[in-house]
Amino acid sequence: MHSPPRIYLVGAHSTGKTTLARWVRDRYAIPMIAEVARGVLAEMEARLDSLRTDLELVNHYQAQVYERQIAAESAHEGAFVSDRAFCNLAYAAHHGTIMAEVFRDPRLERYMASVRSGLVFFLRPHRELLAEDGVRAGVEWEEVVRIDGMVKVLLEMFDVPYIPVESLSMQERTRLLGRVIELAGLRPATEPARRHLTPWREPIKDVPRPRAPEPAPATEQRDRLPAEI
Ligand SMILES: Nc1ncnc2c1ncn2[C@@H]1O[C@H](COP(=O)(O)OP(=O)(O)OP(=O)(O)O)[C@@H](O)[C@H]1O
Ligand SMILES: [Mg+2]
Repeated sequence: MHSPPRIYLVGAHSTGKTTLARWVRDRYAIPMIAEVARGVLAEMEARLDSLRTDLELVNHYQAQVYERQIAAESAHEGAFVSDRAFCNLAYAAHHGTIMAEVFRDPRLERYMASVRSGLVFFLRPHRELLAEDGVRAGVEWEEVVRIDGMVKVLLEMFDVPYIPVESLSMQERTRLLGRVIELAGLRPATEPARRHLTPWREPIKDVPRPRAPEPAPATEQRDRLPAEI
C-alpha cells in the first residue's frame, strides 16, 4: 500500500461521499480532492439537460473529468482524500461513447494501478439519501443502482482491493473509516474526545468525628454489681 495513504471514496451519486470525505479531511488534516466533475461542468457552462442529449458535449465532459482527476491526484505527493476516483467512467459508460477510447488509453492502467495502492471505500446506495419528490425519487434510485453496479464492475475488473461501506449510520461509517485509516498509519489531528458531560468530582468525604467512648468491658461492670460489693 502507498504510504502515506491515499484515500478514495467511490460510488454512485447521493451515497454520502462528500460528507465522509470532509470528515476524513478534518479529522486527519489531510488535503481533500474535491469532486472534479462539478468544476468541469461549471467551466463548460453547460446545462445538465443538454448533457443528456448532446453526445459530443457528454464525451467532451467525461474526457475532461477523467483527465482532471488524474492531474489533480498527481499534484499531491502525500496523503489525500479524494471525493471520487474513476467514478465518472461509470457515467461515461452509461451516457457517452468514449469508453472504448478510454480503455485503450495507456494512462488508464497507470491510474488504476495507483488507485489499487490506495485505501478505497466503496459507498453503497441507500434510498434514504435520495431527495424524496415522488416519481423522480423512483427514477433517481434506478439510476443510482445502475451507476453503483458499474462502479463495482470497474473495481472488480481492475482488481482494486476495496472496502464496501454498507451501513448508512454516520457513527458506523466513521468507525469503519477511522479504524482502517488509523491502521494505515494516519493519526487524528483533532482532539479525540471532547468532554460532553459536566466534570464529575468525588463528593467531599465527612471529616471523621471523634469516636464515642467504648462501653466498659463486661467484666468491669460485673465487678461493680451491687451484690458483689
Ligand atoms: N450517513 C448519512 N446519513 C444520513 N444522511 C446523510 C449521510 N451522509 C450524507 N447524508 C446526506 O445525504 C445527502 C448526500 O450526501 P453527499 O452530498 O455527501 O453525497 P455524495 O455521494 O457526495 O453525492 P453527489 O454524488 O451528488 O456529490 C446530503 O444531504 C447529506 O447531508
Ligand atoms: Mg458529492
